[in-house]
Amino acid sequence: MSQVKFEHLFKPLQVGPMRVPNRICETTNTINSSMTPGLIDEHFIAHHAAKAWGGTGWIGSETWLLNSPFPPETPDEIGLAVGFAVHQSPYQFPIFAEGMTKFCDEIHRAGSVAIVQLTHLSAVWAPSPVVVVGAQDYTPHVLGDEEIEFFIKTYADAAEVAKNCGADGIEIHCAHETLGYSFLSPTTNQRTDRWGGGPQERIRFIVESLQRVRQRVGASMAMGIRMSGKEFRKGGYDNLEMREMLYYIGESGLLDFVSIDVGHCWGAPSYVPSSYYGHGEFRECGKAARADLDRKIAVLFTGRVNDPVIAEDLLKEGYCDLVGMVRAGISDPEFANKARDGRLSEIRRCISCTRCIDEASEPKTFPYKPTCSINPMIGHEVRWKQQYRPADKAKRVVVVGGGLAGCEAARVAAMRGHQVTLLEQGKRLGGQLLIAAAVPGRDDFEDQVYFEENEMTRLGVDVQLATNTDLAAIKALSPEAVVIATGSIPRMPREIPGIDLPHVVQGWDVMQGKAATGNRVAVISEEDYYETPCVAEFLTERGKHVEVFHKSVHLGSEIARYSVGMVLSRMESCGVIVHPNLLLKEVRLDSIELVSSFGVRTYRKEGFDSIVLVYGSVPQHDLYDQLKADGSVPQLYLAGSAWLPRFMAEAAQHGASVGLVI
Ligand SMILES: Cc1cc2nc3c(=O)[nH]c(=O)nc-3n(C[C@H](O)[C@H](O)[C@H](O)COP(=O)(O)O)c2cc1C
Repeated sequence: MSQVKFEHLFKPLQVGPMRVPNRICETTNTINSSMTPGLIDEHFIAHHAAKAWGGTGWIGSETWLLNSPFPPETPDEIGLAVGFAVHQSPYQFPIFAEGMTKFCDEIHRAGSVAIVQLTHLSAVWAPSPVVVVGAQDYTPHVLGDEEIEFFIKTYADAAEVAKNCGADGIEIHCAHETLGYSFLSPTTNQRTDRWGGGPQERIRFIVESLQRVRQRVGASMAMGIRMSGKEFRKGGYDNLEMREMLYYIGESGLLDFVSIDVGHCWGAPSYVPSSYYGHGEFRECGKAARADLDRKIAVLFTGRVNDPVIAEDLLKEGYCDLVGMVRAGISDPEFANKARDGRLSEIRRCISCTRCIDEASEPKTFPYKPTCSINPMIGHEVRWKQQYRPADKAKRVVVVGGGLAGCEAARVAAMRGHQVTLLEQGKRLGGQLLIAAAVPGRDDFEDQVYFEENEMTRLGVDVQLATNTDLAAIKALSPEAVVIATGSIPRMPREIPGIDLPHVVQGWDVMQGKAATGNRVAVISEEDYYETPCVAEFLTERGKHVEVFHKSVHLGSEIARYSVGMVLSRMESCGVIVHPNLLLKEVRLDSIELVSSFGVRTYRKEGFDSIVLVYGSVPQHDLYDQLKADGSVPQLYLAGSAWLPRFMAEAAQHGASVGLVI
């Protein structure tokens, strides 16, 4: 039991008419938890209410995208890189209100409050003819007075529905390249009429929208805005100008809270900061927001706070009154209760890998569902509720492989009452997590290893490290069920002439300290996610000169737009030179020969001491094949990368699902 005292985190706070039971907030996160897109179904309720039942006091759930004033016959503008705009927002349908009412009731039953965020994410429209989102390549339609009036009215209309459904608070979204943001920013608002000008004029759209909402919903709901603490955009506002705008908005008497975060939805930093950022890195913006505001207006700060101890510190040091902890609640919906009960070692901390936002913005799965790399229940809450039950009979279960899939299989099987032995060939659990954690800016990945180690101890799993498992060793344990989660190994492109030369090594071996390189390194990449940038950065941190020859259009092309900016910016600051669209054709002692990925031209490059390969990986399932042929184990499973090397989330889900059915 932890001795940490939380003197601030669990104190209730009055925010306007709303009493928030503690300081922990799920700020809005549109993670696509409904299996009935646009509507609120049992999956949506199960996902967000799990956080309320887990002790999060403020539930922001998912944003409401409001109607836009399209000219007749124009199509909806649903473009992931540019924002959404819709003709008819779901909140207008009775079936939506029905679901929302059920949702609010559930949140209240759990003792939390429900906040509705109202959003125009429509970079299609803007105050001035200036591109709103960096990823966008067209000039937005400039708003006329009638259109502005249309938008203002939509906030009031939607707020009324939210009130009727039982929501406690309304938040107008004025950050992240939304319409509210584009009025506040001096780059996107260059108007010379009443809607533009200095800080005191650019807030007019926000104040009039708040006024209209207040007139419509009365005094019974808390009202606030979400606002960027500063912009990272040429000509954008800094945190002093944010203070000034916020002061004037506060003076209107319409604000009960302001939710501050930092970042954009394209480029770096992202408003969903990855592990490359410090915990609560932009916390000063919370403090700045508090500086001039009436104390009655609560300041909520959000941004990579993944640990209740950090949250407590932010409150204690006066950075904010409430702390946003979105991904902390995705990786562990019960983290707040665990902190309150002193069970800190049971918390599964978010590692900020950003799969959740990447999946929400550019899904890899269909049907779309929330995804978390380390929490396998996310997106499957209803299924877990239906299927999870203690084992009818405690079985002897042997899990081979202590990577994420093996650990999750062992953890869930042990939770259900099985007697589990986990055999790992390394000196520590973790598998590929340990490789990732060795890279600069990825050390949070080790948190998941600590979590698994703590869980194995807590659940009484017999963990045997540094074991060399074979068929006989498994049979000697007389298992009733065996899970083979032996992972994968790096792919070796044997077909390439010269690939066996001694100066050719694998990226994984370099990161594990098993292979050394000379000073001038060519990284050959056939991998589109984080592995190549990680290998490159790992090498530059050790003083190597790195050039990457990459098969596709840019490094990290599988990383979504929220996250790729930071990865590419790091490559630039490390001095990594990237040559896209090239495949390795031949290795010689003094040179390499490459061929265009999409053409026939070949290129010869010289001057490298070492060639480092990043070619993805190959599943390792020999032991499974042998056990299957042997036929003596009653229940035999293959899990994670040993079946198919994909992403962490897939490995964790596969392992946990096996643990669920043994
Ligand atoms: C999947 C996902 C979807 C998000 N959608 C929204 C959104 O619709 N509106 C919004 O204001 N913020 C959104 N956010 C940002 C979060 O509110 C929060 O600011 C961000 O996750 C950083 O906080 P954290 O480090 O505690 O996760 C989203 C975040 C995630 C992970």
